Amino acid sequence: MNDLSLHILDVAQNSLTAGAGRVELTVCDSGDIRTLTIADNGCGMGPEMLARVTSPFATTRKTRKVGLGLPLLKMSAEQTGGSLSVESREGQGTAVTATFVLANIDCPPLGDMGGTMQLLVQQSPGVRFIYRRQTGKGEFVLDTDEIRAELDGVPLDHPEVLAFIRQFVNENEKEIVEVHQ
Ligand SMILES: Nc1ncnc2c1ncn2[C@@H]1O[C@H](COP(=O)(O)OP(=O)(O)O)[C@@H](O)[C@H]1O
Ligand SMILES: [Mg+2]
Repeated sequence: MNDLSLHILDVAQNSLTAGAGRVELTVCDSGDIRTLTIADNGCGMGPEMLARVTSPFATTRKTRKVGLGLPLLKMSAEQTGGSLSVESREGQGTAVTATFVLANIDCPPLGDMGGTMQLLVQQSPGVRFIYRRQTGKGEFVLDTDEIRAELDGVPLDHPEVLAFIRQFVNENEKEIVEVHQ
């Protein structure tokens, strides 16, 4: 239950709870580093809250409800030699960035990113999701506004559209994924 796609799903839930109308997700592999970003235009956080969400897992854990949350993503990133940072401005939005060292034995697999995108769109079809994926072999983008424009009134949460979204992401992933040992 430690796939990066599940962490991304969880962090994007924060964006939706924050009332974001646009959520941009990126997974970029460059050399030995995988960088995840989840950026939104939601309500943002004040400095006090920001300091709390980025403080070490052990000191904040007791105050949290169940869920993966930012502390677990931070711990997962740091276990590989990577890190987590959060930038946020009240009334403007939030950007979460996590880096992972791909060669580290503790680096989790990316997992079912197509499933994550499908669930996000299903849950919030009115939100614009932009997913950018880049490796040394290539890149692709899923932009729900572009899909919406092609659909001619068919809702984004129509089962066939959701199935297309999942398949589009996972097929493209296969084309550009690099094997790290
Ligand atoms: N993108 C975001 N926009 C606004 N507030 C956020 C965002 N991400 C996190 N937060 C704030 O930080 C808190 C902690 O987030 P998280 O670690 O995911 O735990 P949880 O979602 O279980 O509360 C959230 O409850 C919220 O108040
Ligand atoms: Mg959360």
